[in-house]
Amino acid sequence: MAIHVGVIGLGRMGQIHARNIAENVPDATLYAACSYVDEELELAKREFGVKETYKNYEDMIANTNLDAVVIVSPSGLHTEHIRIAMQKGLHVFCEKPIGLDSEDIKKTIEVINSRPNQVFQLGFMRRYDESYQYAKKLVDEGTIGELTLIRCYGIDPSSGLESFVNFAKNSRSGGLFADMSIHDIDLVRWFTGKEIKRVWAIGKNAAYPILDKLGELETGAAMMQLEDKTMAILVAGRNAAHGYHVETELIGTKGMLRVAQQPEKNLVTIFNNEGVVRPTSQNFPERFHDAFIREMKEFISCIKEGRQPEVTAYDGLLGTIVADACQKSVETNSIVVID
Ligand SMILES: NC(=O)c1ccc[n+]([C@@H]2O[C@H](COP(=O)([O-])OP(=O)(O)OC[C@H]3O[C@@H](n4cnc5c(N)ncnc54)[C@H](O)[C@@H]3O)[C@@H](O)[C@H]2O)c1
Repeated sequence: MAIHVGVIGLGRMGQIHARNIAENVPDATLYAACSYVDEELELAKREFGVKETYKNYEDMIANTNLDAVVIVSPSGLHTEHIRIAMQKGLHVFCEKPIGLDSEDIKKTIEVINSRPNQVFQLGFMRRYDESYQYAKKLVDEGTIGELTLIRCYGIDPSSGLESFVNFAKNSRSGGLFADMSIHDIDLVRWFTGKEIKRVWAIGKNAAYPILDKLGELETGAAMMQLEDKTMAILVAGRNAAHGYHVETELIGTKGMLRVAQQPEKNLVTIFNNEGVVRPTSQNFPERFHDAFIREMKEFISCIKEGRQPEVTAYDGLLGTIVADACQKSVETNSIVVID
């Protein structure tokens, strides 16, 4: 029988998950949706065939026809929404970050751990991207030897700035490191299997003064040392003129790997009066289109097969702790040690 899913949040990301559940995950039915915004609820009925729509989350999950919820509400609401759904006996998929406050996340993990028969999955979708999975396999097989340094770029396109400003005005993003670098922090932990112990982060706003008013950074950089002295350098930003720039370099004792050396759109190269041009991915829905579908298929498979996914709530906690340390480092201009 199909798993009945309710989605909370139908904004930029919620609509992607809603569409995937409705159209691309065969064993799932998008049964209900919840949002503050009337037009989004209309769209969910019209485009995704949702049967029931709600403005109040607790009303939605009181619906006994639901098996699972997909939480795509603003980041500051995730922990509360997870706890309520877990306590109702539902399986939960939650977008990243799991939360913005580590003590609150720990309380939420207690609730998750007290219900081992319910699936909990966190939206670290890069772990479901085929290129990252291939790179991970090569690293695990020892192809590039022992890792010494990981360099990550995660920069949103300048074209997305307006929509980000609206997002940041209406809800807490958690800052550049919790909102953007959290994916790279997770990759560093995933590739190495080690914890990050010390960080030094800095940032600068240059092109968009409005970000100062919102307490947000346009570009930030963090240098990290892991427990075994492996190093990581993370660059995050909101102002890539050429598109959505996600790139990862892994340097090992026997070689080096790059994922998306240029963040290419596809295999096409254009030769014209502008020179030799490689088009780039323009945004996260385009670059991680397949990974979003694969992570949702994994969530539904876990429910059907009675198992938990590889990515855990604990990974979410560690991501937030490291992102917080980066933010604190920027604010205090000092190296922050993570216990
Ligand atoms: N995995 C990724 O790469 C990725 C990309 C973008 C966003 N995200 C995450 O997805 C989440 C949502 O981001 P977004 O950009 O879609 O935000 P958004 O502002 O575009 O949408 C938020 C949605 O939540 C709804 N909402 C807000 N408060 C609510 C409440 N109390 N009850 C019911 N509905 C409520 C709004 O009506 C809206 O539909 C964030 O946590 C963000 O970090 C992840």
